[in-house]
Amino acid sequence: MMKTFNLLPSELTSSRLIYGCMRIAGNNSIEDRKKGKIAIRAAIDSGYNHFDHADIYGNGQSETLFAEVLKESPELRDKLIITSKAGIRPTNDDNPYAPKRYDFSEGYLLNSVDGILSRLNIDTLDMFLLHRPDYLFNPHEVAETFALLKASGKVKHFGVSNFKPSQVSLLQSVLSMPLVVNQVEINIHNIDTLLDGTLDQCQEFGITPIAWCPLGGVVYSAWGNTFSANDEQRIEAELAQQAQKYHCAPWQVILAWLLKHPANICPIIGSTTPERIIDAKKALAINYSREDWYRLLEARNGYAQP
Ligand SMILES: NC(=O)c1ccc[n+]([C@@H]2O[C@H](COP(=O)([O-])OP(=O)(O)OC[C@H]3O[C@@H](n4cnc5c(N)ncnc54)[C@H](OP(=O)(O)O)[C@@H]3O)[C@@H](O)[C@H]2O)c1
Repeated sequence: MMKTFNLLPSELTSSRLIYGCMRIAGNNSIEDRKKGKIAIRAAIDSGYNHFDHADIYGNGQSETLFAEVLKESPELRDKLIITSKAGIRPTNDDNPYAPKRYDFSEGYLLNSVDGILSRLNIDTLDMFLLHRPDYLFNPHEVAETFALLKASGKVKHFGVSNFKPSQVSLLQSVLSMPLVVNQVEINIHNIDTLLDGTLDQCQEFGITPIAWCPLGGVVYSAWGNTFSANDEQRIEAELAQQAQKYHCAPWQVILAWLLKHPANICPIIGSTTPERIIDAKKALAINYSREDWYRLLEARNGYAQP
């Protein structure tokens, strides 16, 4: 069964697993778009009510595909939490010399939200996230932008993605509304958020951490993979043993490992395969032990805790 929780301090009730729309449009062929729609429907039918987008996913095509599903079933809009992100500008987007960059300037973000709403064909975004920290951002300018978006009714709630604790503190210190989520990479390979204070800060500030690529290092290599073949063998062996113990697949163990953390981590499931979307829910029912959590960490690190 899908579990839900109150996405405090907002009024939203979110499924514990979030569905990630990064891959739903595939290569934008008719076949891939059809497959993407089937994936969205499978997620909705199996209890996911929270959908994660970004303006850059499929160059905007993920959002237009989602809009097609909403058009076919307009009653769904009020039942779903729709999140999208902006702030990453692609190479050459406004001139041939423009590098890939981050941009939190007011004009750029306001325009981006208008683009998101128009592609999704909705009036209001439930949550808007800053996709990756812009090193040049002026927190007061962002605060003013968020206030404008809220006052215009275009965005209900705000959050960030890939922000370090110091960046969250800086932005939150000037905002007139609370940041609701920080969407960060968390998987067996990348445990930065466990070590750099991100998850502690989430608990302290009441921010929900959302884990992207939760299966990195398990079903595919994580971004910037530094695991050796030995590391991988150790992790694989431990996962296999735990999977046998909990009567599930190794990838479901890693979801249980994330769910065990007291910060209430919400994994984003990005598979476009209906069986995997549905089977991910099995992780929610695993009564995962503290001992196994540390055993897997030990297998990952290659040494016991000091
Ligand atoms: N904020 C950020 O910077 C950021 C960055 C990246 C992603 N995200 C978000 O996070 C979501 C999830 O990321 P993701 O799509 O990379 O991660 P994912 O859920 O791990 O899926 C990644 C790939 O792994 C395959 N896969 C998934 N489950 C599998 C399994 N059980 N066995 C074998 N293969 C499996 C999927 O293939 P199939 O589709 O064929 O099943 C898919 O191609 C995205 O959709 C996006 O919303 C955010």
